[in-house]
Amino acid sequence: MKRIAVTGATGQIVYSLLFRIAHGDLFNHSEPIALHLYDLPGTEAMMEGVAMELEDCAFPLLKEVRIGSDLHKQFEGVDLALLVGAKPRGPGMERADLLMDNGKIFVDQGRALGEVASKDVKVIIVGNPCNTNCLIAMSHGSSIPRQNFHAMMRLDQNRAQALLAKKAQVPVKGVKRMTIWGNHSATQVPDFTNATIEGKKAPEVIQDASWFQGEFIETIQKRGAAIIAARGKSSAASAANAVVETVRDLYTPTPKGEWFSSAVCSDGNPYGIEENLIFGFPCRSEGDGNFEIVPDIPLDYFIKEKIAITQKELISERECIQKELL
Ligand code: NAD
Ligand code: LMR
Repeated sequence: MKRIAVTGATGQIVYSLLFRIAHGDLFNHSEPIALHLYDLPGTEAMMEGVAMELEDCAFPLLKEVRIGSDLHKQFEGVDLALLVGAKPRGPGMERADLLMDNGKIFVDQGRALGEVASKDVKVIIVGNPCNTNCLIAMSHGSSIPRQNFHAMMRLDQNRAQALLAKKAQVPVKGVKRMTIWGNHSATQVPDFTNATIEGKKAPEVIQDASWFQGEFIETIQKRGAAIIAARGKSSAASAANAVVETVRDLYTPTPKGEWFSSAVCSDGNPYGIEENLIFGFPCRSEGDGNFEIVPDIPLDYFIKEKIAITQKELISERECIQKELL
């Protein structure tokens, strides 16, 4: 049985996420599931309501639901921790504006996971700013291997794939090798130069360098803000879907020649990115929950310059929290 902790259990992302997990979407509808739901004290009645709805779905794979506001109890023995709970940004804010408030959450959560979760727990941080929150959790959960921590870039990958497919007028499945380098922020680098559309390099199919370097990159970088402006709330169902796909990426063998994007610990990376950052890289997995960074992807001057900018931003986020939260 897979024990899965989910924080932010009464938030909007998790309301979309839990029913996918309980249906079995993470592990190919094959593994029995126990859900350990965590949210702040005072939310128990609402968590109880969510648990009642889960029960009313009569999902065959869902064997147990625990709710609570004690991190140590909720994280005990978990194989997977999906850390979603954190404040979302509002209109006009950047994700980094949340850093000091949300960063604190990940000190206690990282520590509690290190103390009571399964020793090989995989941890996926969704709460923003997710890269630096992940760095905080990783630093405090030091008994867990550093490569077990991920910050979610899969929503950005999906956005970029969908936009390329729309522009080229091909099915979304035809777009592959979409790397999002760096930070899940407005400096992220959606690497169109190495993406492929139906087997060809994207710039050979869409022959419009100024669209790629301008509108394409900016649309992806600012998509989260565009959704907040339109909906009045940050993305939720698409974020939940991306969480499902992040886990599936790790537990499904990556097809040969393909990769997925995840923000992972930069220690020992093959692209010369400074160590001790949580950085979006192209990754592949054998389907056992582990991954490696795909090496030797050629980077042109334009992409390298953009990567330097997102790296600088992550370093400055780390500097902000270094004293109080690392
Ligand atoms: P929401 O406001 O609907 O829910 C927030 C949840 O976090 C609530 O359950 C709340 O109780 C909990 N929470 C708030 N403060 C907390 C604290 N101090 N400790 C523990 N839990 C706390 O928000 P949402 O729309 O579900 O978004 C959750 C987070 O996910 C936000 O930070 C949002 O920016 C982020 N997000 C990330 C991505 C991504 O791609 N990485 C995508 C979408 C949203
Ligand atoms: C997103 O990309 O939709 C989320 O990170 C929410 C946000 O603040 O943009």
